[in-house]
Amino acid sequence: MANETTTIINNANGESYEFPLREGTIGPAAVDISSLYKEAGIFTYDPGFMSTASCHSAITYIDGEQGVLLYRGYPIEQLATKASFLEVAYLLLYGELPDEQSLVGFETIITRHTMLNENLKNFLDGFHYDAHPMAMLVGVVGSLSAFYHDSLSVNEPRHREISAHRLIAKLPTIAAAAYKHSIGEPIMYPRNDLRYCANFLHMMFATPCEDYKPGLIAEKAMNLLFILHADHEQNASTSTVRLAGSSGANPFACVAAGIASLWGPAHGGANEAVLDMLVEIGDVKNVQRYIEKAKDKDDPFRLMGFGHRVYKNYDPRAKIIREVCHQVLEELADADNPLFDLAMRLEEIALSDDYFVERKLYPNVDFYSGIIYRALGIPRNMFTVMFAVARTVGWVSHWMEMLSDSNNRIGRPRQIYCGPTQRDYVPISKR
Ligand code: SDX
Repeated sequence: MANETTTIINNANGESYEFPLREGTIGPAAVDISSLYKEAGIFTYDPGFMSTASCHSAITYIDGEQGVLLYRGYPIEQLATKASFLEVAYLLLYGELPDEQSLVGFETIITRHTMLNENLKNFLDGFHYDAHPMAMLVGVVGSLSAFYHDSLSVNEPRHREISAHRLIAKLPTIAAAAYKHSIGEPIMYPRNDLRYCANFLHMMFATPCEDYKPGLIAEKAMNLLFILHADHEQNASTSTVRLAGSSGANPFACVAAGIASLWGPAHGGANEAVLDMLVEIGDVKNVQRYIEKAKDKDDPFRLMGFGHRVYKNYDPRAKIIREVCHQVLEELADADNPLFDLAMRLEEIALSDDYFVERKLYPNVDFYSGIIYRALGIPRNMFTVMFAVARTVGWVSHWMEMLSDSNNRIGRPRQIYCGPTQRDYVPISKR
């Protein structure tokens, strides 16, 4: 396809224009219309970017029809069961699986950056005790740029790398600190003798009076969930980080913007909304009523955890979590979790209903993740925080990829203007 082109004919004036076709290693080709406005004086229109490729990227590939998800070419099913979260973080950041020495070196670097500047604790003390942890996360992560002046030159590769390491290392510490603030307990310091997920569970559940030894099951479940949530191509929050970063904004501000975007219930906020929905449905006998509500155009209710912009097949991450759910709930002695049974019945009934089948609405990653988080003792208002901790790896990987791309330029979409044409100011006495 090296020199293939696409012709666009403007029937309004009979003019035709040739545009090059761009192709990646796998996936759909793209028409490069970057010169369209200059050549034809017209824009394209694609609200929600349903058919728009915003960049070249070598990080994650999704085939929505086949339900395929690859991180740097490796199938999510293999990484989820064979790799550690920091091993996957290294893969997403640097493009290759680390050898033993590189992984140990990376783990050591991340471990050494897990502590927070003591003054950051004052930020948390400024929040009301019942502040949503996502509100605290947005604020505290954004404030990191006030502490790390030594790594804010985004055009310096070394500054970019150390900022990425700091964000991956400090998100769990900030997340756990937000949780502790919300329950009125003292913040727990990270421990350098614990692995990443065990350290996070320690900071969440240990207290100065009593240590918490994270069980291997809980650590493995956290590792799995973090891998599944680490990256997902150009989703809303990752695109937010890229757009913020395209202006040269510092990485901490960019990730804070990504956290804000992820918080929405249509995106990462769905895992918390799924649990709220399951609790509201309460019993299988109520499922059909809620399915009818989800189908009713006059009812704003949607089946949370169902549907996806890209997956028109089962989200491979939901399939993995669903399979692991049983095992984790068994081992965490939560096997008769009524919410899991309700979720499976809801899925079964929904997937036999034409409305969902015709629209290819399948469970997505958020449908089952909250059930495991709940079994791990994570409160509902922390579910999206967990998503943000994991997705920080994807956000900083895309941010680094974008800034090392020589074609990178500030993102600035246009619009179809539908406001008033020019008119003159009217004095208030004449309005
Ligand atoms: C994530 O992009 C990513 O990769 C995101 C993510 C990631 O890892 O980063 O995968 C994480 O955000 C997963 C999605 C979590 N959100 C939810 O579970 C919220 C519920 N889902 C929906 O809000 C919706 O499905 C979206 C937002 C996920 C996708 O929306 P789209 O692609 O814009 O689809 P749409 O809203 O145009 O829906 C198409 C049709 C509509 O009906 P019609 O107008 O054709 O009659 O499907 C209907 C919608 O009303 N529909 C639903 C539905 N989702 C879509 N109807 C009921 N319940 C739903 N959940």
